[in-house]
Amino acid sequence: MSTPYLNRRNEIETYFDRTAVKAWERLTSDAPVSGVRARVRAGRDEMRATLLSYLPQDLRGVTILDAGCGTGALAVAAAERGAKVTAIDLSPQLVAVARERLPKHLDVTFLSGDMLDPSMGKFDYVVAMDSIIHYPTKDMISIIEALSRMANKAMIFSYPPRTLPLAILWGVGKLFPRGDKSPAIEPQPPKKLRKALAKIANIKLGRSYRVATGFYISEAQELVRA
Ligand SMILES: C[S@@+](CC[C@H](N)C(=O)[O-])C[C@H]1O[C@@H](n2cnc3c(N)ncnc32)[C@H](O)[C@@H]1O
Repeated sequence: MSTPYLNRRNEIETYFDRTAVKAWERLTSDAPVSGVRARVRAGRDEMRATLLSYLPQDLRGVTILDAGCGTGALAVAAAERGAKVTAIDLSPQLVAVARERLPKHLDVTFLSGDMLDPSMGKFDYVVAMDSIIHYPTKDMISIIEALSRMANKAMIFSYPPRTLPLAILWGVGKLFPRGDKSPAIEPQPPKKLRKALAKIANIKLGRSYRVATGFYISEAQELVRA
């Protein structure tokens, strides 16, 4: 792991484990939120549904890694469909929220740590929703490549596409109070990113879909094992 990766990872951990824990906990709950955040929440609900729709409907016995699980919504939805889910996040505090929110009838292995930790082994599917958005292009591609190697069938993720509206609207400064600034979000030009990903050995590009709710713009991308 390179020093720039580790430095950025530390900033992300500090942000999600300290600065923004409460705001993130609220955004990912049913508690009322202001108009901007409500639209972000709606966009994120649509993105989660999109990523989950790229998985088989019947997930009984299927192993899934929720990489950068935050408060665990995607992990829970996959477990509801029968998947054996491991969910990991850098932020122990968000993982604690995820554990608390886990419905009693479900079993998900929640871990706090790095989603690239090789000791977790391999999974049928690896899903990373909005969890690589703070890494610069080079690291983002390396992370996607590493996660795709951990997936026997497909790796599915979302990222911020570089579009003009995104540049204007998606300052997390708009989502969270002043002073709660997140590490920079690193939008990627989709064509360029796809071209780089197409070079990864033994994977091919699958479906993609853009969610744009005004204040949340994010692109789903599926990478299928060739
Ligand atoms: C924008 S949040 C998204 C959380 C969740 N996937 C969701 O959609 O609600 C990004 C999450 O990725 C996590 N994250 C970023 N880099 C990570 C890494 N290297 N290992 C584990 N988690 C990471 C952060 O701690 C944060 O909780």
